[in-house]
Amino acid sequence: MDIRYDGRVAIVTGAGTGLGRSHALFLAARGAKVVVNDLGGAVDGRGGSAKAADTVVAEIKAAGGEAVANYDSVDQPDSAAAIIATAIDQYGTIDILINNAGILRDKTFAKVTMEDFEAVMRVHLMGSVYCTHAAWPVMAENGYGRVVLTTSAAGLYGNFGQTNYAAAKLALVGFMNALKLEGQKNNVLVNTIAPIAKTRMTESLMPDDFSKHLDPELVTPAVAWLVAEECQRTGDIISAGAGYYALVKVEEAKGVALGDGEPVTPEMIRDNYDAIADMSAATPFLHANDLLAKVGKLLDI
Ligand code: NAI
Repeated sequence: MDIRYDGRVAIVTGAGTGLGRSHALFLAARGAKVVVNDLGGAVDGRGGSAKAADTVVAEIKAAGGEAVANYDSVDQPDSAAAIIATAIDQYGTIDILINNAGILRDKTFAKVTMEDFEAVMRVHLMGSVYCTHAAWPVMAENGYGRVVLTTSAAGLYGNFGQTNYAAAKLALVGFMNALKLEGQKNNVLVNTIAPIAKTRMTESLMPDDFSKHLDPELVTPAVAWLVAEECQRTGDIISAGAGYYALVKVEEAKGVALGDGEPVTPEMIRDNYDAIADMSAATPFLHANDLLAKVGKLLDI
């Protein structure tokens, strides 16, 4: 049976262009009522205009869907709360929150100003936190919620000139790891997408012959699955682009037990480094306590 969102209310932040636009159009086409949020600024987050969000709302309506525009910034608690309030005021509730809005202020760490570092942290990390915080009590009360965060390969694996962006993007994974545990009892599930797509944000960074395969519409099905009612996953990261879909996991090596109760020296770490770093029997953990259980078992303590 097709996945549909009839009766569901969704917010997509940064939905005026690129990936967010694609997510919003898809959810609306499958029956969701959508709040199309976008500040309408430049890639660096400066400026603003109603046009981006209005254009997507008009597209949705022209296709017979239901949507409302919102132009507030995700990056302040009050304006983020106003985005959630738009969903409540217009459609009575919030079921799906896709935290997608983002900016870039790329510079090497030697050159980046702390203002630009904090601006990027504020939009990606705090913007997602503020929006999710405002939606959370409604979802908990409803006993239903689907939240998606948007990370990046730059944060998961690194990218030159993006310390601010990488820090913000991986911080979202930590946010999810703890939040998934708090949402589970109320059926509020939290997952993360790591997209690869040709958008205005990336078009100058990728070679044309590669980027022509990176339609944002090829990322949206993974997001659309994660916000579906029948999807019971929580705490997953899915890497998606160009028709490629893969689960991403943080894993810890099998590890070694050193010292046997005696002092452990840095020389012992050096001499055992190959075994410490041997990822061939690595495992993921669902909870920080699972790591403690593993250490306890390995060391028999
Ligand atoms: P984009 O620049 O086309 O879209 C981002 C949208 O967010 C814009 O419409 C912008 O106006 C909006 N926005 C920015 N700051 C905002 C704020 N404070 N409040 C509300 N809206 C705001 O870029 P793209 O590529 O569609 O990016 C979407 C998300 O995907 C971002 O979080 C980005 O970091 C992430 N991403 C994209 C990748 C790609 O390959 N395109 C790779 C990895 C992550």
